[in-house]
Amino acid sequence: MFRRLNSNPDLLDASIIWRMLSGEIQRSLSHVCVFDELDSTNAYLLRKIVSGECARQLCLAEMQTSGRGRYGKTWVSPRGANLYMSLGWRLNEAPSAIPRLSLLLGIALADALATLGIKHLGLKWPNDIMWQARKLGGVLIEGADGCIVIGIGLNVRMPQIPAEKIDQPWTDFATILQRDVPSRNWIAARVIEAIIPTLNSFERESTEPLRAAWRRYDVLYGRVVVLESSSGIQHGTALGVDERGRLLLQINGQERAFASGDVRLKREQGIRLSFKSEDATDNDYSA
Ligand code: BTN
Repeated sequence: MFRRLNSNPDLLDASIIWRMLSGEIQRSLSHVCVFDELDSTNAYLLRKIVSGECARQLCLAEMQTSGRGRYGKTWVSPRGANLYMSLGWRLNEAPSAIPRLSLLLGIALADALATLGIKHLGLKWPNDIMWQARKLGGVLIEGADGCIVIGIGLNVRMPQIPAEKIDQPWTDFATILQRDVPSRNWIAARVIEAIIPTLNSFERESTEPLRAAWRRYDVLYGRVVVLESSSGIQHGTALGVDERGRLLLQINGQERAFASGDVRLKREQGIRLSFKSEDATDNDYSA
């Protein structure tokens, strides 16, 4: 109980986030909710799909008890420290369009974080947000029945103890920006302002050039990487992405495209984590 009354001045607040959004973005959302605790913001919105309520909802949580990353990894989600947010969106596109969308969202996110003062950001395919070879955040897109859930995790002030569960180099806003860390409400609003226009334009003009935009942030380009996927392990030199969002690798002199997989530079390690659960409360804000 006392923890709720502690000195953390940076609590998430749905009404504050709402007021920080432009009118156009507010009109794109039906509902913003902030939970004290959830299993996973993605899981919460996926459950909403079943009741037909997922689309255009933005959901954030102060902590996640089963935060998840790509490839079944756990996403370290301690209370009050970082951003765990998910947006539900109805998508009138084939599932095969999602890898491309996922990369475009990563680019929009990196552009938005640059406006918050984070320089030298990079993206590691498909959508790890990197700063000086350390992971700052990630995006997990899941979906069902024509609705997708875009989950975004950003390390803002990662505490020491849960951070010990992360088994790959990581960073957070506090390390990068030192004293000038914006409020989590503000970061969340800037992220949403960046990704909703990308979602809108994706459906209008699905030919927006991806390859060159990706190159601006690509931390793998020209590097020798290892790709693990359901079809096995590949070693090759990364050559960026194609317009479908597939990773291009040069393997034995031939260029090959891969739609999915976990890629790392040689000798780099993956991220893994876990965290204990607590009770949930929520606060809501609706259009
Ligand atoms: C990754 O890089 O592996 C993707 C991480 C995505 C984490 C976010 S946190 C909010 C949302 N809810 C989850 O359980 N996962 C995503």
